[in-house]
Amino acid sequence: MMSTLAFDIKETTDSKLSQVDFDNIEFGKVYSDHMFVAEYEDGEWKNLRIEPFGDLSVSPANATLHYAQSIFEGLKAYKNDAGDIFVFRPEANAKRLIESAERMCIPPIPEDLFMSALTELLKLDSAWIPTKPDTSLYIRPLIFANDPYVGVRPSNTYKFLLFTGPVGAYYSEEVNVKIETHYTRAVRGGVGSAKTAGNYAASLYPALQAQKEGYHQLIWTDGQNHEMIEEAGTMNLLFYINDTLITAPTSDSILHGITRDSVLTLAKDWGIKVEERQLSVKELIDSIEKGEVQEVFGAGTAATISKIRMIGYEGKQYELPKEKPLCDRLFDTLDKIKTGQVEDKFGWVCKI
Ligand code: COI
Repeated sequence: MMSTLAFDIKETTDSKLSQVDFDNIEFGKVYSDHMFVAEYEDGEWKNLRIEPFGDLSVSPANATLHYAQSIFEGLKAYKNDAGDIFVFRPEANAKRLIESAERMCIPPIPEDLFMSALTELLKLDSAWIPTKPDTSLYIRPLIFANDPYVGVRPSNTYKFLLFTGPVGAYYSEEVNVKIETHYTRAVRGGVGSAKTAGNYAASLYPALQAQKEGYHQLIWTDGQNHEMIEEAGTMNLLFYINDTLITAPTSDSILHGITRDSVLTLAKDWGIKVEERQLSVKELIDSIEKGEVQEVFGAGTAATISKIRMIGYEGKQYELPKEKPLCDRLFDTLDKIKTGQVEDKFGWVCKI
């Protein structure tokens, strides 16, 4: 049970819940009735409140619209048949939001404020948490610069919002990915490890080019030589090669994924050899050609465990083995931990 701070709560008089088709939930299209809002002014977070989910009004000179001084998080809540609400690793998201804030010159949201906002909002909108397999309530916290000022400097005012919405799978099928060796997502010393808007904006054009060739997503490589595998932008990447689970080490050009960390923790617990190390494109392609690559998958909050069907590189398409037992075991175990069906031996689940 989490501690709570006191907020003003203004409940909606126009709930949209009855309009939701819980049998067909797509990712990121439906939003619950309420949102948490706080404002940063005169050096402190104030006006803490929950109000009906709705549009915001900002100045055309709003600093975020021009210079992208904004950060966000993604986490998920689940509900069991008894109506208990569980959130997966929210303290880890609160900490990462603080780390992103520091990199982007944004005043951090204290962890107790984050947890209290989350708790109160989930209690109020608990009826929005879906219970069908592969569904959850996606929680999106964000902070954005709010000064009406077109000079370039850190804003003096900010807004913190936390809203939610029922979601299904982010990728509805196995994913085809292309190894990107021209465009760059992040560079050493850049903002790749911060969960900040510009990283996603920069990925759109290269991803669109790959989508025209039939790929869902890119495998980003290092910005300097495009030789080392980094991540996929929407998820971290893991490679099961010769019975060893390999993933790129965290750095300032890779998002420090919470699902990534959970997967590595489970794999080590199961006695699987884990290596957090640089994996070159050459080593990957050579290993695929030798038949040594057993499974490749993405790990992320939205993406969960996303199986990769095929990898494209320099015009050639490399199909991966159809059977992916490690992915299945990870998906199943994480799902059961998140919904309180098995022992939570790592203390990941927060019951509301
Ligand atoms: C998440 O996994 O929660 C993210 O923020 C990734 C985003 C591409 C939806």
